Amino acid sequence: MVSFTSITKGAFLVSTMMLSLASATTAEDDTAGVRVALPPLIPSRVQPAPITEKHSFGSDRVQSIERAEDIRPNSFQGMDMDFSVDAPPFVEFINSSSVMSATAEQIQQFKMFAGVASTAYCRTVVPNGSWSCKNCLEYIPDGQLLTTFGSIITDTSGLVVRSDAQKTIHLVFRGTNSIRQSITDLVFFQKDYPPVPGTKVHAGFYDSYKENLDQYFPIVQEQITEYPDYNIVISGHSLGGAQALLAGLNLYQRDERVTIDNLKIYTVGCPRVGNPEFAHYVNSTSIPFFRSVGRRDIVPHLPPQILGYLHAGVESWEVSGEQVRVCTSTIETDECSNSIIPFTSFLDHLTYYSLNEGLCL
Ligand SMILES: *[C@@H]1O[C@H](CO)[C@@H](O)[C@H](O)[C@H]1NC(C)=O
Ligand SMILES: *[C@@H]1O[C@H](CO)[C@@H](O)[C@H](O)[C@H]1NC(C)=O
Ligand SMILES: *[C@@H]1O[C@H](CO)[C@@H](O)[C@H](O)[C@H]1NC(C)=O
Repeated sequence: MVSFTSITKGAFLVSTMMLSLASATTAEDDTAGVRVALPPLIPSRVQPAPITEKHSFGSDRVQSIERAEDIRPNSFQGMDMDFSVDAPPFVEFINSSSVMSATAEQIQQFKMFAGVASTAYCRTVVPNGSWSCKNCLEYIPDGQLLTTFGSIITDTSGLVVRSDAQKTIHLVFRGTNSIRQSITDLVFFQKDYPPVPGTKVHAGFYDSYKENLDQYFPIVQEQITEYPDYNIVISGHSLGGAQALLAGLNLYQRDERVTIDNLKIYTVGCPRVGNPEFAHYVNSTSIPFFRSVGRRDIVPHLPPQILGYLHAGVESWEVSGEQVRVCTSTIETDECSNSIIPFTSFLDHLTYYSLNEGLCL
């Protein structure tokens, strides 16, 4: 693997080459290497979705990124790793049908799942198995921790915790512990996403999701059997958000009991996971999927659109503690956090709704 830090000006070319190399690989069986028996895919839930609109990979924004690459030494893909003093202020908020101010209840929900996602960074929780961390007790006071899991190979881990008070089965993912390093090491290989023809996902995110699959899938299924009227909420911060999306789709694709009425996915500072075909597939499922982006957090802008990535999910952009803008489109637009490109910051990746993400505080 070629790490991004070793690529400078040729980033675009090299990444494009890597992408086309990756495109040449053949689809794998998505159960290969999984050590538990998975139910078969439900055909009606893995249908590709037509792309109804064109995405502007050649826009001014892309040119501004290319220009920025020349003038911003401490940048990644032309975006700032650290807050830059020349950053213009956020665009003015104009309420419309496509950008709205989040209600207090919505903010409370987003904060709740940012809090839940943060618990996966606590060593007392993963791997030690004790549900006693500060945010554990704050957001799921009656949590029954059912399992914790992790992969040393991919440095990803997570947990399943049930709340009878909330009537919810929570599946929570943590990405790597060395977040800043893993961002600058991000490579952009895509591979075919086996369940849905024509869609592609980030190869590394997909491999790490599969690495953990057998450790939680049977447990979540058992819980659904025992608690059929509970919601299933999947959350994760950073690379854990990518895991959350892939895991949520997998459950939905294989278990009839998991529906758009009981399944919800909340990601926090999640990178882009797949290509536009994948984003449109995700949208076509109508699974409620909320994607929090904090201020100038760089991670949701990676891998860049220009390399063939696109977000699905309703974006809630936390502009300040009190102001959260919701871009109602279920495919990303430029009306929320994309408007700040290339003036991004790594530090903003670590605090969401005043909660520390990435450390167990
Ligand atoms: C914002 O716009 C939406 C739709 O355009 C409208 O329903 C809502 O009442 C507006 N909110 C405010 C605070 O103006
Ligand atoms: C986890 O458990 C081990 C073994 O019991 C103990 O040594 C360690 O201090 C625990 N770590 C945390 C963070 O609780
Ligand atoms: C998302 O999917 C819904 C339902 O299939 C569809 O009506 C809508 O047009 C899609 N949105 C976008 C932005 O393509």
